Amino acid sequence: MSKITVSKLWKMKEKGEKITMTTAYDYPTALLVEKAGLEMILVGDSVGMVVLGYDNPVPVTVDDIIHHTKAVVRGAKKPFIVADMPFMSYHISPEETKRNAARIIQEGGADAVKLEGGKEVAPMVKAIADVGIPVQAHIGLMPQRASVGGSFKVQGKDAETAKAILEDAMALEEAGAFSVVIEFVTTEAGKLITEGLKMPTIGIGAGPHCDGQVVLSHDLLGYYETQPPFVKLYADLNETITDAFKAFKTDVRASKYPDMAHSVAMDKKEAEKTIKNISVLLEE
Ligand code: KIV
Repeated sequence: MSKITVSKLWKMKEKGEKITMTTAYDYPTALLVEKAGLEMILVGDSVGMVVLGYDNPVPVTVDDIIHHTKAVVRGAKKPFIVADMPFMSYHISPEETKRNAARIIQEGGADAVKLEGGKEVAPMVKAIADVGIPVQAHIGLMPQRASVGGSFKVQGKDAETAKAILEDAMALEEAGAFSVVIEFVTTEAGKLITEGLKMPTIGIGAGPHCDGQVVLSHDLLGYYETQPPFVKLYADLNETITDAFKAFKTDVRASKYPDMAHSVAMDKKEAEKTIKNISVLLEE
């Protein structure tokens, strides 16, 4: 697979080929996502919850995103790497938005940035796109907003709200977004939005009709005990890792680890000499 670009992602939509995306926040995960051949990696501000232990993405900073993006970029050369713009890093002015987006690209090495919001953030999308930085939009359920007085409920449950989300998406496309993440909307809304846009839609809990799908790696791998209702488990790392830690503890307690196969022995003669030297030392 050669490096994925915006034009390759658009071609995939034209040909009806589904795009796959997951999150990575570190080097080893990035290596594995590349090895598996997924087209896109998201360095999401979900890093705040799944890696840093915050309750929500609000405390995540531009510096945090840059730090994790650098590690991901070192591990994955071919996937198209999108990094999230954190809470309040794209709200104050188009100038500050451009400065923060530029840092994520220049210092972090991401291929694109992503930001949440509807038509009200279109001027920020335009500011970034106009300087040549690819921007992915994020509509439907918006975790940053949901964390500050919003709600984590499914969006687009009726004709009116589905239309409003499509209008937002169209305004973002018009402003220059190259793609949009649609989070936790009804299947019908996901289909309507996908059909109404030229840019690829990447769904998360938005039904099967989106041009691609993104699921957090920690969710699809079962790293946690619980996952959102739309997540299908492809592994159970929670159990695998807990079992491995328990087995390690059991072996150490029973003096089964390290055994000779996992230890380094001295040359026989040197060992005998060492024992002799110690006996002399102890007698003195
Ligand atoms: O931060 C993140 O991981 C995201 C996904 C929910 C798409 O934005």
